[in-house]
Amino acid sequence: MPPADNALPRAATLASRRALLKGAAGWAMAMRLGWGGSAMALPLAQSGAALLIPPTQMLPGGLRMPAPLPGAAPRLPATEPGRQSLDQGWLFHEGDIPFPVPADHNATYLSVKAGNAGGPAALDFDASDWQAVTLPHDWASAQGFDPAANVSQGYRPRGIGWYRRLIRLDPAVEGQKIELRFDGIASHATVWVNGSEVAHSWSGYTGVTIDLTPFARYGDDLNWIAVRADATVREGWWYEGAGIYRHAWLVTRPPLHIAEQGVHGHPVRQADGRWTVPVSVTLGNIADAPASAVVRASVRDAAGRTLCQGSATAQVDALDRGTAQITLRPDGAVALWSPDDPVLHDLLVEVERDGVVIDRRSVAIGFRAVVFDPARGLLLNGIATKIKGVCLHQDHAGVGVAVPDALVLWRLQRLKQLGCNAIRMTHGACAPEVMDWCDRLGFLVMAENRLFNPAPDYLAQLEWLVRRDRNHPCVFAWSVFNEEPMQGTHAGKEMVRRLRAAVRRLDPDRPVTAAMSGGFFNPENVGQAVDLMGFNYYQGDYDRYHALHPDQPMLSSEDTSAYGTRGAFASDPQAHVITALDKEAAGWGATHRQSWQAITARPFVAGGFVWTGLDYHGEPTPYAWPSVGSFFGIMDLCGFPKTAFGIRQAQWLDSAPMVWIDPHWTWPGREGQPIEMLAITNAPALEVRLNGRTVARIAQADRIMGHTLHIPYAPGRLEALAIDGGKVVARMVHETAGPAKALRLTPVRTALGSESDDAMAITIDAIDAHGRHVPVAQDMVHLSVRGGAIIGLGNGDPNSHESEKGSARSLFNGLAQAIVQGDAGLTALVLEARAPGLAPARLVVGREGRSAAPTVAAEAPRQRLDRWLRSPALPARPDPRRAPAAGDNNSWDSVGSSEAATTAAGSGEQWHLYRATLTPWRALAARGGSLRFASLAGTAEIWLDGVLLGRKTSPAPAPLTLALPAGAGPRELVVIVAARDVSVSGIAGPVDLTP
Ligand code: GAL
Repeated sequence: MPPADNALPRAATLASRRALLKGAAGWAMAMRLGWGGSAMALPLAQSGAALLIPPTQMLPGGLRMPAPLPGAAPRLPATEPGRQSLDQGWLFHEGDIPFPVPADHNATYLSVKAGNAGGPAALDFDASDWQAVTLPHDWASAQGFDPAANVSQGYRPRGIGWYRRLIRLDPAVEGQKIELRFDGIASHATVWVNGSEVAHSWSGYTGVTIDLTPFARYGDDLNWIAVRADATVREGWWYEGAGIYRHAWLVTRPPLHIAEQGVHGHPVRQADGRWTVPVSVTLGNIADAPASAVVRASVRDAAGRTLCQGSATAQVDALDRGTAQITLRPDGAVALWSPDDPVLHDLLVEVERDGVVIDRRSVAIGFRAVVFDPARGLLLNGIATKIKGVCLHQDHAGVGVAVPDALVLWRLQRLKQLGCNAIRMTHGACAPEVMDWCDRLGFLVMAENRLFNPAPDYLAQLEWLVRRDRNHPCVFAWSVFNEEPMQGTHAGKEMVRRLRAAVRRLDPDRPVTAAMSGGFFNPENVGQAVDLMGFNYYQGDYDRYHALHPDQPMLSSEDTSAYGTRGAFASDPQAHVITALDKEAAGWGATHRQSWQAITARPFVAGGFVWTGLDYHGEPTPYAWPSVGSFFGIMDLCGFPKTAFGIRQAQWLDSAPMVWIDPHWTWPGREGQPIEMLAITNAPALEVRLNGRTVARIAQADRIMGHTLHIPYAPGRLEALAIDGGKVVARMVHETAGPAKALRLTPVRTALGSESDDAMAITIDAIDAHGRHVPVAQDMVHLSVRGGAIIGLGNGDPNSHESEKGSARSLFNGLAQAIVQGDAGLTALVLEARAPGLAPARLVVGREGRSAAPTVAAEAPRQRLDRWLRSPALPARPDPRRAPAAGDNNSWDSVGSSEAATTAAGSGEQWHLYRATLTPWRALAARGGSLRFASLAGTAEIWLDGVLLGRKTSPAPAPLTLALPAGAGPRELVVIVAARDVSVSGIAGPVDLTP
């Protein structure tokens, strides 16, 4: 058989999508809005319908995945003018490299000085054999599984790693403020810039921003960044990954600028129903004189119309901060934000001096009123709204915690398709893009603090989180902890009081909660210090708590913890397989059906957060080795639906009719035996037909508990029909599949963006002779790719030890997933899949032009000599062996390569001797190369290890290149410079070593 060509021509895709949308008018409309939309960056205020996947499940052929979305993944808009991606061009070393221990007093003295960091943090460290990597990067995801490694982290060794990156700064930005920002490094990190230690990041969930300005070099004088990531530290009991696993950025700002996190604008509804937008703008000033500016703020709607504007002046002292306060008042009605209609507005802040705008920031805001009523739960914009939420860890199959933006979006789109309207970011700050997409897709977000501790270092982490995320309309509450043993104590309460106060200082509008898992009824407990009670599990205590605290609003911050293996319909404890039919749950949890029943029956419970939306690596409860991943997800680690997807969709989705029936209908050898089925719909009635004959009819369908049926097996077509008013409004079909004959590849989008940072998941399944999905196929699939790379592989099996990298992965209960990235450019990506005995599949993914994201170009690492000791001016030629006395750090100057000596004009002939210790990088040491002085002023002699290497005979400043003989370091390099009657002499420019 020739390869099954699954390339998805646009027209065919549109047609099949329309077919899928038939009968769901609202969704058809939604999709028309998004149809043909360009894959350029979204306008700031664009949100909602165009981003949604329609809530249909089955592609033709029984593949229970949504049809590919059109085009490449959209990009988030740029909101800061001077921000550039720093994701490319990193070097990585797995493992620690200890700092050298200084050999003597002199070396010790020098080793602790600014700019003099040693080892891998040193300016001239040889990292030429390190691996080239692009961020986001999680080195743990490439590790094998090791029974000796930590169970909760998924048996993945983590350890310590080093990163280095060279940055060239355009001389034009000299004088501007330059910031280096890491959105997240797992888990503890130390950062050096040009040999100076500049930051410690003590949480893998917190970003770190470094003011590079005082350390910066410009033009050919390059900057070295070094990062040591210590992932031996555990902050969680789940897979946390290792390395610089979120984006890194370089941000330039004018001397007088809007500070990072410097805009706070959060619409507030007044008692009379009108809205105000108090805007606070924090300016920084790095100039050496005070500066004043006019700050203007305006709110624009999605169509670009200005709704209101205002201005204030701010005066900022040198190296200080100042704040401008402006209150905006939109006239008339404003469109409200809600999960169903996530309307965004653009808060534009501009800073103006002498009539010229010098800095600006765009912030997406939303008008929405969040009120928690102790009796009625969440009133969102005055409407009782049940929180239908999931808890989410951040990792995905194949890529660990280094999840490309497009995959972040797709995971959220899947949750939206589920009918989910809320996400709890367990158990720490998520990547910033997650928040941005939650605003746009319409999720209510419970933002969570990682470490429960009001001591200053930890309080700073919470404050950072609140400052970063307080503008997001999606955020409805701040959770200060999850399940802390001190939750039922006086000390715990005192700690929460302090955390709450810190939050309220920064955000007076949102409630503070804590996810408690006990201690609710202790005489002193943290419930007494929060605005909103968060119950983890203990669903049997809801009524008692509410009766005791009728004035305190409450929600289920976590519930369920039901187990299920995707595609498995019978438990096998020996094999660590758990039926997906919603029968088993953790002792502290409940099934999906029980837990939602408890919540939905109680208006005073504002809603709940299922543990979890998707499976995650690690925490393989209830099992341990060889299980390595969780069983809790509504979807598996790849985003493939378990039966829980159907259950939750029936419970939550109101915008379109749906029906679900599991298991599949391929049970060869079980003819005549009853198959236990779970059928569920959000429609009033349900019917099941087997080969056209009705085998079950349920006049009053239960959308919470569903219906268990036992249907004698006969091969053929099993259909579940959702019925409303006598009409079939939704249908799910399983057809008995024959033996697998061919592979099939189905992408989640029809195109990849032209830049290499776009990514997409591709579903791999096997089909029978009639093109039907084979749900029981377990074949090993070998992949090859052209025009891009496979960055991760998965199949949703929590017991699998197959590598998540490489090119081979077995189908697990019919499915596997490859995550691909295209090379930069417009050449199509071609993925081919082969398995013994099956016809191969070939998928051509087209590329689509996307707006370029500003990026700092990668620089080829090169060795540069930058540390010299320079003698005082000498009246006569010194002996090349001349050196400061042992322990004398003061008589000679420590200088860089561009710091020439100044001499008084007319002072006659003067001599300087420069000494440097040179440790040539590998290639240079092995084969020799060249030593190039960009500028030497004066006549000069160059000596290496006591041997004359070359001379410069003309006194005028000029470059000099010499052959450098092979030889490993440390080597002693000496430059003797003579100058007569000049004001500048010596080494006056960079010194480069080239193999
Ligand atoms: C909860 C906890 C989660 C996860 C879950 C598993 O107690 O908050 O992080 O461990 O249990 O059931």
